[in-house]
Amino acid sequence: MAGEIRIVGLDIGTTKVAAIIAEWDGSEKPKLIGIGTSPSEGLKRGVVINLEKTVESIASAVEDAEMVAGVKVDSVFAGIAGDHIRSINSRGVIAVSRSDREITSMDVDKVIEAAKTVALPMDREIIHVLPQEFTVDDQSGIKDPVGMVGVRLETEVHIVTGAVTAAQNIYRGVKKAGLEIEDLVLQPLASSYALLSPDEKELGVAVLDLGGGTTDFAIFFDGSIRHTGVVGMGGKNVTNDLAIGLRTPVDQAEEIKKVYGSAMTSLVDSDEMIEVPAVGGGEPKRISRNVLAAIIEPRMEEIFSLTRQEMKKSNYYDLLATGIVLTGGGSLMEGVVQLAEKIFDMPVRAGKPQGVDGLEENASSPIYATGIGLILYGAEQIREGKVSSHMKGKGWFHKMKNIFGQYL
Ligand SMILES: Nc1ncnc2c1ncn2[C@@H]1O[C@H](COP(=O)(O)OP(=O)(O)OP(=O)(O)O)[C@@H](O)[C@H]1O
Ligand SMILES: [Mg+2]
Repeated sequence: MAGEIRIVGLDIGTTKVAAIIAEWDGSEKPKLIGIGTSPSEGLKRGVVINLEKTVESIASAVEDAEMVAGVKVDSVFAGIAGDHIRSINSRGVIAVSRSDREITSMDVDKVIEAAKTVALPMDREIIHVLPQEFTVDDQSGIKDPVGMVGVRLETEVHIVTGAVTAAQNIYRGVKKAGLEIEDLVLQPLASSYALLSPDEKELGVAVLDLGGGTTDFAIFFDGSIRHTGVVGMGGKNVTNDLAIGLRTPVDQAEEIKKVYGSAMTSLVDSDEMIEVPAVGGGEPKRISRNVLAAIIEPRMEEIFSLTRQEMKKSNYYDLLATGIVLTGGGSLMEGVVQLAEKIFDMPVRAGKPQGVDGLEENASSPIYATGIGLILYGAEQIREGKVSSHMKGKGWFHKMKNIFGQYL
């Protein structure tokens, strides 16, 4: 399509790989044209442990999305997560370079570069350097200093790092599936693009992704990301608890959890009975839904309590004025919002991905928040001229220049 570029979000999750293709003409919202998913079997707690299986899942999800969209894709924005992810805040300071003291975008790049020089062990690499604010001489709290006048430029940034091997295995998996990576993006950061409003980010909010293998969060305040963290536990743990507690096969436990599960016993009527198939095909048992909730609740409580502990490691926990936005498959469970409100003692809402056109009912499930967020993150990067691979291609460069003439 003339004047449109394609953006692909590839969410390599612990339970599913989702590939989402969008077209964008540079206007406000990218338009979804295809979604493909495939069960993911090569990951554990957010990290690739079996490359072959991961490649198969990626290839299959992307093929499905291509079929729906009727186009072929060659590059993606991919997510990264796992309990190897760490984040720190860092500062950088430089002297403004021009003799008339006007701050240029080169000064901004330089000061961010300066903030990036933190001692990093050999086995870790930087995934994001996210500027929070700038200080020009003694004036702090500046979002964009370009064009201002000053002698000293300072910045505070949020640095996200990950294990080199974990990142490399994602690169390999995507490459082996025949695709290029435009950028590797922290999953909860990506999700935040699809779930949070600018107002929420300004006033203080956390996005909490209840995934299959991990529970990830990112805290925003004053418009910028302030703290990120991971708890290495998720929906799979809940399913395993049920399989053991009810003595039923794991795939049955998964189904029962999705249909009848509740995160709060107090919300379930104890008269409500369900049938549970036995391991090895014996006589099915009848149990009360209350029993189910009694198995789920303590695990969800544990996940939320550990998350709260992680969140409290930053000073921003007490500044979450608009509370917590839940996402990921786990947010679909009955009672999960109420339980989270109880444990975190603040307002909680279940988020639905937004910000793209062509969202049919199916695509607005929270399991697609990361994939859709990756597209929105990608659009922002392209708009700001920060992704290089597209720019290098001859045709692409001209196309981009036409669309984003004012930015390039
Ligand atoms: N209706 C539901 N009720 C409860 N749990 C659900 C429901 N639907 C999905 N889940 C759970 O959500 C999890 C999958 O969520 P999601 O697709 O967000 O994970 P993922 O992205 O594959 O994993 P991760 O982000 O941890 O790598 C599974 O554990 C699944 O059991
Ligand atoms: Mg996920």
